[in-house]
Amino acid sequence: MKATAKAHTNIALIKYWGKRNEPIILPTNNSLSLTLDGYFTTTSVEFDETLTKDQFILDEQVITGEQYERVASFLDIIRKLAGKQLYASITSKNEVPTAAGFASSASGFAALAAAGTKAIGLGLSNMELSRLTRQGSGSACRSIYGGFAEWQMGKKEDGSDSYAIPIAPAEHWDIRVAAVVLSSTKKKVSSRAGMKRTVETSPFFQGWLDSIPQDLTTIKEGIRHRDFQKVGEIAEANCLKMHATTLGANPPFTYWHDTTIAVMQKIQEMRTQNIPVYFTIDAGPNVKVLYLPEYEKIVEETLRSLSGVADIRLSKPGQGVTYL
Ligand code: PMV
Repeated sequence: MKATAKAHTNIALIKYWGKRNEPIILPTNNSLSLTLDGYFTTTSVEFDETLTKDQFILDEQVITGEQYERVASFLDIIRKLAGKQLYASITSKNEVPTAAGFASSASGFAALAAAGTKAIGLGLSNMELSRLTRQGSGSACRSIYGGFAEWQMGKKEDGSDSYAIPIAPAEHWDIRVAAVVLSSTKKKVSSRAGMKRTVETSPFFQGWLDSIPQDLTTIKEGIRHRDFQKVGEIAEANCLKMHATTLGANPPFTYWHDTTIAVMQKIQEMRTQNIPVYFTIDAGPNVKVLYLPEYEKIVEETLRSLSGVADIRLSKPGQGVTYL
């Protein structure tokens, strides 16, 4: 009753920002992401009749507290699905440098869902796996697929129609992402808390929601035709709209630091010099830069030379969940 799975993280080009149901994680809007090859989690799950509770080892450390509880509650969902009351030992290795500003929860929950369901003998389709993964971490449901994936928010309140679907595989388009790691990355508001405050208090939230359908239609068209300008413009504008909602919240907040703004301005300046680059930012200060392979050298050099930038990490489109 053992299985091992590997899953990659993803970067949202159309952001998931807002929940309509917190306990089972149902979003207020569809989102769309690109899975990245550079960052992944490998997880083994072994169910064992002799265990009296789950054990979770992450990067060779025994995990307790809140992080353990999140993993154990997620295994409860798997146990319930399988109708088996068995505990497991879970061993995970993260190749997601948290400093790069990627949430390891996306690759983490996708790998855990895949390994856990396989180990307990559930043969889930990708759709079922994505729907289950969503309940561990929302953005993780998109990491079941490689390349571009869209999380459909669904209409039903039981969550049965809320899962990701593939839009285009990694091989469709070699679009690159540079993660700009800032020297100072202290994050004050978690994505969970930030979303909640925004949904409950920001007068800009409705404007954000109203703008999503058009952004999604245009970006999918751009992806289909490998139209870099179209995809970049929509991704950057969508990110700015998401971050604008936080300024309208009560109390107001922003994830940006001074260097975040400096990097954004540099990207916009590079475009005036005919270098096609665009940015996106998640619930933290680090900037992710979209570019095409032929511009890799200039992108890396320019960003590295900025003060307040600690590192640049480059990534290509990545694959969906695999079993080892
Ligand atoms: O799934 P969470 O709770 O890590 O939230 C992710 C939120 C954003 O990264 C800001 C956007 C997204 O779609 O990934």
